[in-house]
Amino acid sequence: MLDLLITHATLPDGRQNMSIAVQAGRITEVTEGLQAPAHETVDADGLLVSPPFVDAHFHMDSTLSYGQPRVNESGTLLEGIALWGELKPTLTHEAIVQRALQYCDIAVARGLLAVRSHVDTSHGSLLPVQALLEVKQRVAPYLDLQLVAFPQDGVLRSPGGLANLKRALDLGVDVVGGIPHFERTYADGTESVKLLCELAAERGKRVDMHCDESDDPHSRHVETLAYETQRLGLHGRVTGSHLTSMHSMDNYYVSKLIPLMREADLGVVANPLINITLQGRHDTYPKRRGMTRVPELMAAGLTVAFGHDCVLDPWYSGGSADMLEAAHMGLHVGQMTSQAAMRQCFDAVTANPARLLGLEGYGIAPGCHADFVLLHARNPVDAIRLRAARLGVWRRGQRVAGQPAPTAELRLPGRPGSVSFL
Ligand code: FE2
Repeated sequence: MLDLLITHATLPDGRQNMSIAVQAGRITEVTEGLQAPAHETVDADGLLVSPPFVDAHFHMDSTLSYGQPRVNESGTLLEGIALWGELKPTLTHEAIVQRALQYCDIAVARGLLAVRSHVDTSHGSLLPVQALLEVKQRVAPYLDLQLVAFPQDGVLRSPGGLANLKRALDLGVDVVGGIPHFERTYADGTESVKLLCELAAERGKRVDMHCDESDDPHSRHVETLAYETQRLGLHGRVTGSHLTSMHSMDNYYVSKLIPLMREADLGVVANPLINITLQGRHDTYPKRRGMTRVPELMAAGLTVAFGHDCVLDPWYSGGSADMLEAAHMGLHVGQMTSQAAMRQCFDAVTANPARLLGLEGYGIAPGCHADFVLLHARNPVDAIRLRAARLGVWRRGQRVAGQPAPTAELRLPGRPGSVSFL
């Protein structure tokens, strides 16, 4: 007797009428048309069953703090950093924990079951680190929270920056972060990339740096990140987040840069909602979009993910924990409108970030964790178009969230009485 059987599912790769058999929290079989006795059977009725959404780039220590102590008037990255600096002295452990738990509730309801969150390590108290380590433990039964030691104020620029970051790793933070474009000089930025990659190599950690989050076409720290990755043999374990300067770079230089990034098997995270909002703020018209070169990087064979980055915090006044919203924006900003490109946008919020995080047992295949989402959509393209409702969310074979299929009443002459949006 199976624990759970999903029938008549459409999978993201296009296979239809698939059954997913679950036993003891793992998928045991994925076969067309399988019928078998189970404690619970769910008929997907031809709708899409996807592995859960994964957010490769988020800030859970600042989320849901919008308006505290004021809003970001200029809308720039730098005012956001200054504003966060004003908020930090007033933070409490309990307030961070409560906001983060609230965010994770929303995330689970959206089918978002794995998040890589940066956590600010700049201050000696490591208050955000302690708080998010507690959150990581509390949400572990239903959400994988991976933490990145993020020296928001600059690892070299802030007093004790490197020591604080190392202490965060000692406490159990998973990944080494950085912010080279915020160090005092370009030389310091380069030095920070080198020493942080060396630290990661020494400790066997992954790296995920905020890198070149700027409209400055000469911000080229990603070149150093790729170089250090290959020098230290960190291939496949290093991610460059944002890389917005690539949007503005000279095309000839990019034609040299992308192969170097490929050689290092660098991961890339674009944050479309935030990039389109924060970048281009010093432009008049035309205004740059600021998102890195997603289709070109994908075409070169790099693993590219879309992150959410911010929800209601000093940098962003919107957001909803919906990775389909990030994919929707990425599709538009990157003009990724072919059928293949739209499907790549879906991969950018599922399989690709799962690879960057190094998630074990991710996917819909025998042996994988029984984690999946039933979407009110017939395929990945429709899921993005509709920001489809999550009809059911399963974690280790247990249903942890769900909502009814959306429908609206219609009162039109000669037309049906309702519409389902599909
Ligand atoms: Fe970020």
